[in-house]
Amino acid sequence: MRILVVETREAAAVVVVDRIADVLRVHPAAALGLATGGTMQTIYDELVRRDQLDLLDLQDVCCFLLDEYVGLDAGDSASYLETVRRALVNRTRLPATSVFGPDGSAVVLDVEARRYDQQVTQSRISLQLLGIGQNGHLAFNEPGSSFQSRTRQVDLADETRRANSRFFTGKRSVPSSAITQGIATILQAEQLVLVAFGADKSDAVKAALEGPVSSSVPASALQLHSHVTVVLDEDAARELQNR
Ligand code: F6R
Repeated sequence: MRILVVETREAAAVVVVDRIADVLRVHPAAALGLATGGTMQTIYDELVRRDQLDLLDLQDVCCFLLDEYVGLDAGDSASYLETVRRALVNRTRLPATSVFGPDGSAVVLDVEARRYDQQVTQSRISLQLLGIGQNGHLAFNEPGSSFQSRTRQVDLADETRRANSRFFTGKRSVPSSAITQGIATILQAEQLVLVAFGADKSDAVKAALEGPVSSSVPASALQLHSHVTVVLDEDAARELQNR
């Protein structure tokens, strides 16, 4: 595992997008795994900048979302698919038809979760972007999730709903469940890039990277993968002993 601590979020975005550019140089039609949430916005801004300057080209890339809320109407602006459309599709050459996610409005969610798991598995993700929750969650795998878990419907932890209420009109409008790639599904990706910013992530980062590998800290599963890069700002790294 490589841990990089950088001074600014913009510098972190440069490091992360350099990784993506390395992948695209070899595989212009690579499958990329996308996370959503506040942390990724800076990363996506840098991707947009490079696509617009023709420093990389997202035209042939396929993107797969980690997760999606259950119960939002198709096209709801808070859905992760819409978030990625706004952040990337509308601003780059990435075609809307090349972005895939689990359908949180499917009638039979189990069937949809299994379908998406197969799609992700068959697509062989080259690089998976990841954020981390303050409670150590990875995608929407909340504490207690099995490391063998596959894509499935999950209940969101109270603290996750509270943290994500900033994207809604208050906590009560945050869905209580989601479809998320499982931990085993995520670990199939060829390489993982975890990004975390801010002091409120520092305990989770410490537990995930330096604590025991345990389902009580889902992001500690990263310690089991052979190709992981972690990009942190100083605040998120402040509890780490080994940097
Ligand atoms: C979102 C996701 C989550 C977020 C995490 C951090 O697709 O999978 O695990 O990455 O909750 O979110 P932010 O960046 O908003 O702090």
